[in-house]
Amino acid sequence: MTAPLIAPSILSADFGDLTDAITLVANGGADWIHVDVMDGRFVPNLTFGANVIATARRATDKPVDVHLMVEEPERYLEPFVEAGANVFTFHPEATRHPQRLLAAARERGLLAGLALNPGTPLAHAEELVADMDLLLIMTVNPGYSGQSYIASSDDKIARARALLDRRQSQAYLQVDGGITPDTIGRAWRAGAQVFVAGSAVFGAKDPVAAIRTLKARCGTEV
Ligand code: DX5
Ligand code: ZN
Repeated sequence: MTAPLIAPSILSADFGDLTDAITLVANGGADWIHVDVMDGRFVPNLTFGANVIATARRATDKPVDVHLMVEEPERYLEPFVEAGANVFTFHPEATRHPQRLLAAARERGLLAGLALNPGTPLAHAEELVADMDLLLIMTVNPGYSGQSYIASSDDKIARARALLDRRQSQAYLQVDGGITPDTIGRAWRAGAQVFVAGSAVFGAKDPVAAIRTLKARCGTEV
C-alpha cells in the first residue's frame, strides 16, 4: 500500500502571513498544498482565486492542488494554469461537459480531478474514470472549514476505491472535509490516499506535529 499524502488546506491558514504558513507546512511534511476556490454561487462562501494560487506557487515546489467550488469551472483553467496550479479539481454539476474539461486540464499538463459532494452519487464518476487523475470524495458539504466528517462517507470511499481498482485506474483517491486525527484512520482504511486537512493542521498549535500525527494515524503502513 502506498503512503498517505497530506494536503493542508490554506483556507484555515493565517492570511496575514500566508507565505510563511505555506512554507512551514511544505517543509514540515505536507505533500501537496490545497487551495479552495469558492465563488459564492456553487457554494455559499467566497474565497480567492489566481493570485493566491500564484502565492502558493512562489512559496513552494510542492504540488499546488486547486479545488474549484465554482460554477463554470472551465472559465478558470487558463488563469489557473498561468498562476502555477498542478491539480485542477472541479465538481461535475458545475459544468455541462465535465469530460471536456478533464481532457483540457490534462492537455495543459495538469492533473485532472473530479469532486463529488456528499449527495452526489458515485455514478457521476463512472463514465469518466479513464479521464481523471484524481477522484475527490467530499466528506462534508463544501463551503467551510471546520465541519464534521459525514459518517456515511466511509462506504462511499470504499465504493470509489473499488471502482478505481476494478477499472485499473491509477487515479488518486482524495477526501476533503472533517479530516482530523480521529477520522483519518477510517478514511484511510476505506481506501483514500490523499487527505485534505484545514483546521486539523492550521488550527493546531504546531501544524508540523499535526501533519505527523495525521500520518501516524494511518497505521503501520506509513
Ligand atoms: C471545504 C473545503 C475544504 C476545507 C477543509 O469546503 O473544500 O478543503 O478547507 O477544512 P477542514 O479540514 O477544516 O474540514
Ligand atoms: Zn477543498
